[in-house]
Amino acid sequence: MKFFIKTYGCQMNERDSEAVGATFIKAGHLPVDKEDDADVLLFNTCSVRDAAERKAKGKIGYMRKLKQRKPELIIGVMGCMAQRLGDELLAELPHLDFVLGTGQIHRALETVTDIAAERKRFANVTVAPEEIDMLGEHGQNSWSAQIAITRGCNRFCSYCIVPYVRGREVSRSKDSILAEAGALVASGVKEILLLGQNVAAYGLNGDIRPPADGFSPFAELLEELNAIPGLERIRYTSPYVSYFNDRLIAALASCSKVCHNIHLPLQSGSDRILAAMNRQYTAQSYLEKVAELRAAIPDLTFSTDVIVGFPGEEESDFELTRNLMNEVGFEQAYIFKYSPRPGAKSATLADTVSEEEKLRRNNILLDDLQLRIGKKLASLVGSTQEVLCEGVSSRNESRWTGRTGTNFVVHFEPDASVRTGSLRQVKITRSGKVSLFGELC
Ligand code: 5AD
Ligand code: SF4
Repeated sequence: MKFFIKTYGCQMNERDSEAVGATFIKAGHLPVDKEDDADVLLFNTCSVRDAAERKAKGKIGYMRKLKQRKPELIIGVMGCMAQRLGDELLAELPHLDFVLGTGQIHRALETVTDIAAERKRFANVTVAPEEIDMLGEHGQNSWSAQIAITRGCNRFCSYCIVPYVRGREVSRSKDSILAEAGALVASGVKEILLLGQNVAAYGLNGDIRPPADGFSPFAELLEELNAIPGLERIRYTSPYVSYFNDRLIAALASCSKVCHNIHLPLQSGSDRILAAMNRQYTAQSYLEKVAELRAAIPDLTFSTDVIVGFPGEEESDFELTRNLMNEVGFEQAYIFKYSPRPGAKSATLADTVSEEEKLRRNNILLDDLQLRIGKKLASLVGSTQEVLCEGVSSRNESRWTGRTGTNFVVHFEPDASVRTGSLRQVKITRSGKVSLFGELC
């Protein structure tokens, strides 16, 4: 069979789609990149914001015409929206064959095979966290691969649907992660991105209290990964700020392969809003942690997630967020307009900030960010950066693109010896709006 997978949402979803695709390929099925060419259409969906759900539903709805032309077509929905809506989706979209929740994604192949043999429609949203190791399959990795180290979340931020759709936090065993990493590196992978809703909670058995000083299973995992010969870079996303204790900070500073870039979700710079969000830190403690991290790793860069327009967010709260973002000096940020999610705690609060005002706040933060990034990039002109070469630039075929450990994109003229996945020194000659330009040393 020919199959097509469309993924919405986060990197965890991309990773799941890759694993599902790999199981299909292993069974002799062929991936295609157009819906029209496929016998099986799989949609791996996201629920984190209403817009993500509407987008997926629109697309899946549109597939009805294709199914009318091709009645044998099998259409399945997986992932977070599948988990949240289950049977409702089957009722709403009559051309859908199956719905698999987040704990059932590993059953995609067997489900499609069953449906091809005996057409029946069904939804399975059983939570089965013990199955997480079954999603260890990888596609054809080149130089970079992702490994999910935890799944689910126990923190219950009041705006967030994730604990409801992805279930309780579970960590994989260290042996299984190290075996997966070892096999990937043996196949040529140079960079590993560790994934989890809160990676720094790795190995804490779901305890929501950040670990005491001196203890961090995540730090131990990083150290063991750092010792794998042939692996060049380790990245991770996303950690929760309160889990950076002395043990973890020391490991980040001493592991030479761990990149100097942290995606550290802030969400708000107002203590009042942070408390309403059930985030367990204050603006001050966030700033202190950033300072501690910078003291240990001077060239560390930060990116973040921020929500504007949370219920009750006043102009003064927003200003606190804006000021804190400027104070930290984030090199990258993802700004989201608050969207109530049915089932999450904050959905019971009145959505007090108008769409127009959310957009205004969103744009102010984006403008600040643009200015900051421009200045930061300009400050790097003249420096020499270690760049992991990724391949030919998508904008200009005569150039290559790579990335610094601090996560800046660098474009450069290739030489004959440049290889995908190799580390090279690049002298930065000029900066653009979002990236750097340089020459190989
Ligand atoms: N509305 C808007 N943004 C949200 N996020 C999570 N839930 C919501 C919501 N209900 C954002 C957070 C999170 C990122 C993945 O999505 O900033 O860090
Ligand atoms: Fe979306 Fe969250 Fe699910 Fe990822 S885990 S797909 S961000 S709802």
